[in-house]
Amino acid sequence: MNLKIAVLSGDGIGPEVILQAKKALYAVGVVYEHDFIFEDALIGAIAIDKTGSSLPEQTLNLCLNTDAVLLGAIGDPKYGTDAAENARPEQGLLKLRKELGLFANIRPLKPFKGLLDVSPLKREIVEGVDFVIYRELTAGIYFGEKKLNESETIASDLCEYTEDEISRIAHLAFQSAQKRRKKLTLVDMANVLESSRLWRKVVKKISVDYPEVALDFLFANNAAKQIVRNPKQFDVVLTGNLFGDILSDEASVISGSIGVLASVSLGEKNVLFEPVHGSYPHAKGRNIANPFASILSAAMLLEHFGLTEEAKKVYEGVEKAIEYNVVTIDLNPDTKFGTNEVGEFVSNFILNKDDLMYFNNDNVHLGQSTIV
Ligand code: IPM
Ligand code: MN
Repeated sequence: MNLKIAVLSGDGIGPEVILQAKKALYAVGVVYEHDFIFEDALIGAIAIDKTGSSLPEQTLNLCLNTDAVLLGAIGDPKYGTDAAENARPEQGLLKLRKELGLFANIRPLKPFKGLLDVSPLKREIVEGVDFVIYRELTAGIYFGEKKLNESETIASDLCEYTEDEISRIAHLAFQSAQKRRKKLTLVDMANVLESSRLWRKVVKKISVDYPEVALDFLFANNAAKQIVRNPKQFDVVLTGNLFGDILSDEASVISGSIGVLASVSLGEKNVLFEPVHGSYPHAKGRNIANPFASILSAAMLLEHFGLTEEAKKVYEGVEKAIEYNVVTIDLNPDTKFGTNEVGEFVSNFILNKDDLMYFNNDNVHLGQSTIV
C-alpha cells in the first residue's frame, strides 16, 4: 500500500516521540512491503517562531491533500495563555481540526496487562477496563463566540451545538458500540445546560436506529467520579468537546500513564492520529518522554487503512517492550531506557531483529541497530 503521511511533530517532546512512531512505520513498511511517504510540516509554537503563524498555509494545504496526518504535540510555555490569539500555539491545532473537519476524536482506553500495577488505582478496579471515548472535536465551547468587555472584567465563551454536529458523531459512537459490548453512555450536564438537553434529545432519537445498543446518561460530574470508581461499567462514552478533553485526561490515570494513550480524529475526508498527551516542555530533549502513545497512534493509523496484521505487530511490539521492562521513566522510575531505546526496541521487534535479546538480560547494548 502507498500512503502519504503528513508529519506534524510540533512542540516540546513532539519531535522525539514522533520520530519513534516514524521508525515503527518505517519498519512496518520494510517488513510488509508498503510505501509510506512522510512529509514534515510545521505547527504550533515552532511554526510561530519560524513563520509567524501557528498553522502556516503550507501545512494546512499539505494536510488537506494527504492520506493521513500524524501529529505530535502542541504548546510552549514561552507563549502563555495571555498571548494574543495568533500567538497561541494551541490555536494552530484547533484551526487544523476545524479546517480538516475532524469532528470525532476517538480515545480508546484498555490498560496493558503488564501495567496494571503501575496505575495508582487498585488492580481490581483497573483489570478488565476496556472503553472508548468519543469526544466531539470541532464545536461546543472550544469554538463558540468569545467575548471580553472593554474594561476586561466580563468574559464569556458560547457553548453552541447544532443537531447535525451532535448527530454525526452520535452515529459513529453507536456504530462502535454495536461492534463492541453494545452500551453507550452519553455524558453531559443536561440538568443545567440547554446544549446538553439538545444532545440528549438528538441522541435518544438516533438510538432508535440502534435497538441492540443500550443507552444511558450520566452527568459529567458523576462521570468524573465513576471513571475512577468503576471504569469497567463503560463501553462507549459519547460526549462534547470540553467534557471529552477533561474526562480523557482523567481516564488516562487508569492506564498508568497518559504516555500510553493514542487517538484518532475523523472527518468526512481527513484523518489525524495523535497521542493524547501534551508537549511536556519540561522533558523536551531529555530522552525521557514515553513514545508509546505516538507508536500506538501509528498502529491506529495502520488499522484505519485496513492493515490489521501490521497494526497488531506494532501493538505486540509495545506489549513486548512492557514485558521486558523496556519502558520510560513514567512507567518505571528505575528504568535504564529512554525515548529512543524504547522506540528502537519496538521497531526492532517489528523487523524481527534478534538483538532484542540484549534487552532481556543484563548485557544491554544500546544503539546497535539504528535504522533511521
Ligand atoms: C488535547 C489537548 C488540546 C485540547 C489542547 C492542546 C488545545 O488538550 O488534544 O486533548 O484541549 O483539545
Ligand atoms: Mn487534552
